Parts: sequence; C-alpha cells; structure tokens
Amino acid sequence: MEPRIASRPRRLAVRAAPVAAALLLLAGCSVGVEGTPGAAGLRDPYFPKLGNGGYDVRHYALNLAYDPKTGRLDATADITAAATQDLSAFNLDLSGLTVRSAAVDGAPAAFRRAGDELTIRPREELDKGTVFRTRLVYSGVPETVTDADGSEEGWLPTADGALAVGEPTGSMAWFPGNHHPSDKATYTVTLTVPAGLKAVSNGRLVSERTANGRTTAVWNAPEPMASYLATVAIGTYRTKTGTARAGKPADVPVLSVIDPAAADAEADALLARIPEILDWQSENFGPYPFSAAGAIVDRGGDLGYALETQTRPVFPRTAFDTATLVHELAHQWYGDSVTPETWRDMWLNEGFATYAEWLYAEDFEDIPAQESFDEAFADDANWAFPPADPPAAENISDAPVYGRGAMVLQKLRQTVGDDTFFEILRGWPAKYRYANASTDDFTAYVEETAGEDVAQEDLDEVWDVWLYGDGKPKSPEG
Ligand code: ARG
Ligand code: ZN
Repeated sequence: MEPRIASRPRRLAVRAAPVAAALLLLAGCSVGVEGTPGAAGLRDPYFPKLGNGGYDVRHYALNLAYDPKTGRLDATADITAAATQDLSAFNLDLSGLTVRSAAVDGAPAAFRRAGDELTIRPREELDKGTVFRTRLVYSGVPETVTDADGSEEGWLPTADGALAVGEPTGSMAWFPGNHHPSDKATYTVTLTVPAGLKAVSNGRLVSERTANGRTTAVWNAPEPMASYLATVAIGTYRTKTGTARAGKPADVPVLSVIDPAAADAEADALLARIPEILDWQSENFGPYPFSAAGAIVDRGGDLGYALETQTRPVFPRTAFDTATLVHELAHQWYGDSVTPETWRDMWLNEGFATYAEWLYAEDFEDIPAQESFDEAFADDANWAFPPADPPAAENISDAPVYGRGAMVLQKLRQTVGDDTFFEILRGWPAKYRYANASTDDFTAYVEETAGEDVAQEDLDEVWDVWLYGDGKPKSPEG
C-alpha cells in the first residue's frame, strides 16, 4: 500500500506544473506584458516572406570592411527600430553570410537562422512603441543573387571591387534588415577598403581617411530610403563633382564616379549633363527630393541593367546613354521618393520613368509623346499582361510594366489635359514624398486632382482598359 500512497503526491506534482504555468501565462497577458514574435514576412503579393512585422526601422548604421582579393566582408549593422507591437522576438532578412553575434540595447540576444530569416530573441521583451537598437556582427563572402527573371543582383564582384544592387530583394545579401520597400529608413554607411580604391554609397560623403593601408569613407543618406535602393560601389574610380539647382532653394552637390576603364568622351559628356537634366525634370516633376545627386558608372561585368539607387544611380557602361540617364534620374521622384507599397505597384516606378523618357524626347528630340505611345502600342511585348497586375515575381520588370505603364500616363494626359496632367506629375511625388503609395492611392489621387472637370467614366476607361484590362485594345484610341 505504501508505495501506492507514496506515488500519489508525485503524480499530482507532475500535473500541477503545466497548470501553474498556464495560470502564470494568463496573468501575464492580462497586464499586457506578454509579447509575441513579429511576423516573418509582410505578405507582399510576390515575395510573401520579404520584410518582417512588429517593428519599423528608423536608421541603419552599416560598417562594412571589404577585401576585393578574398571577396570577404567583415561587418557590423546597428539597426535602430521602433516596436509596433509587444515583441518577444523579431526577424530580419539576411541571405548567406555568418552571424557572429547579436545584441539588443547592448545585451547579448539569442538568434537563429532558417533560410533568409534571422530571428532575434532579446533578453527582455520589447514593449510596443519602444525604440531599440540591434547590433549584428557578421562576415563572409556575400552572394550574388539570381532573380526570378534571371538577372543578377545582391553583391556583384567586379574587375577591381564590387557593386551592390538590390532590386527587388538583393540587399539582404549584404546587410540584415527589413527588406520590404514599405519600411523606409535613413542610412549611414561606413566603408573600409584597401587604400587606392574608392568606396561609394548613397547620399553625402561625410569623411574619408586613409591609415595603415586602408581607406575608410563615411556616407550619410538623411532622407528615408527603401533598402532596395541602397548601394555600395568599390573600385578604381575617377570622381566628378559639381552642383545642380534642380528646383531647390540651394544647390545640391553632385558627385559621380566612373571606372576609368568605362570612361570615354561620351560617358564624360553624359555625366556633365546631370545638372541640366535634373533642372529640366524639376520643372516638370517638382523640386528634386534629395540633398545629394550623382551617378556610378562601372564597366558592367555581370550587371546587365542600370538601377535607380537613391541619389546615385548605378549604370553599367553598356546601359549608360541619354535615355537611361533620364530614366534613372526620373526614378528619384518616382520610385525613390514615392515608393511602391508592394512589388505589385512597380508600374508606378517604371511607367513614370519610361514616360519621363517620352517627355524628354518630346522636349529635346522633336518626338511627340504620342509617337512614343504609338510605337509602344505596336510592340507585342507590351501586351503580355496589364501593368498593374504582373502575373508573377519574374514579371515585375517585364515590358508591360514599363511600356504599357507609360501608355497609361499618355492616356491620362489625353483625358485630363496638359494642365491637370502636369499638376499630377508634380503633385503625386509631393503628396507622398519619402513615403509609400499603391496603385489605388494613385487612381484616388488622380480622381481628386481632376475634380469635376473630368468625367469619372473617362477616368474609369483609362483604369479599366489601359491599367487593368487584359489584352490589347483594337486601336490606340481604346
Ligand atoms: N529598376 C531598374 C530600371 O528600370 C531595372 C531593374 C531590373 N532588375 C531586374 N531584376 N530585372 O531602372
Ligand atoms: Zn526603371
């Protein structure tokens, strides 16, 4: 008998433990101290795991040392963010590389990796509204990412250095972050490279020092930036500086770099035209949104396209021509200052930047925008799908997003007239300056701006036929 009696309290004790734990948990919830993990993705229609929930990044301070000989990056990221919920853990996007340590507000934090998700569990939970700083020490050979559409992004080693470009998802190959375009933040990027090389990023050069065979350059980008627009360029570069007025009260410093192996008379002449192109664009699009400007021109290598990296777009020499320069500079207003809410809204970038090329041709080459429209209309590649609804991730940079996106704007111009159209071109990036906006935000903005002078059914036709319609209308008239 005794053993049976003796066994009783033991069994009771075993059962009591989970009950007590559940009671503690309930008590915790009722006073609001029990946080939950932030979401591992922001449910972008094409990249559901891209970005992370539960916090909002304010500032990235990235400190990167790169050795082109070994391809190795030794880095520290200090990420300042505000919790948007009570957080027990949160994720950052990071692809490849090795995380050496993580700390939140100076206290070591547990971390775990699964695919491109890095989960950080701070020692203390973070209350909603708290601003906290995460420090990650990481290193390794950063990867070049091949996109869904086959193009290369992420970290691209070049003949004498490297180029970092991140549209749509490549920035996670070189720094941990909230890599969805909807979480914009300011940046300070400190780059250390072997002396003799230059290291360039977005914004303004704050300082540059050489000691012990290494050069350290500090770059500051004070206006909010989506992470896909962050860039690093390391190599042997010639620097060209100047200023642009670009519709602002004070001159904007223009700093461009060009790989001497890519430089020729035509490239030099193009770089010299940046101020006048920005002046012309500011007349049409409103004051230039940023406090720095310029360009990065490299040989190219694996980079087959130009990218509108903020303040300082990147061009392979093979894609550095007048139209592409006009296109990437126009993105500073459309894409960089007003940024898509999700990757479905990509036509708000590419349709506008393509339309900027049409406007340039109209003003400087005697080619009316309607002629560019007719040419785009005749091109079958533009009719694969409606610009506001690419079928899959691999299509977000396809022809309809560019050509048919620009056609939407030409149709809009015909419908509302030049005065209202140019008011929209200026007003749209002004209303959403440094923010994010969706296609619905755009159509609502146009309807509000057009007001009663334009029949709603005429605007509906632009949206239904040109923006969302399947297939090609019978004629350019609709
Ligand atoms: N946004 C760039 C431009 O049109 C092109 C980026 C292409 N990227 C890609 N993954 N296909 O200026
Ligand atoms: Zn573009």
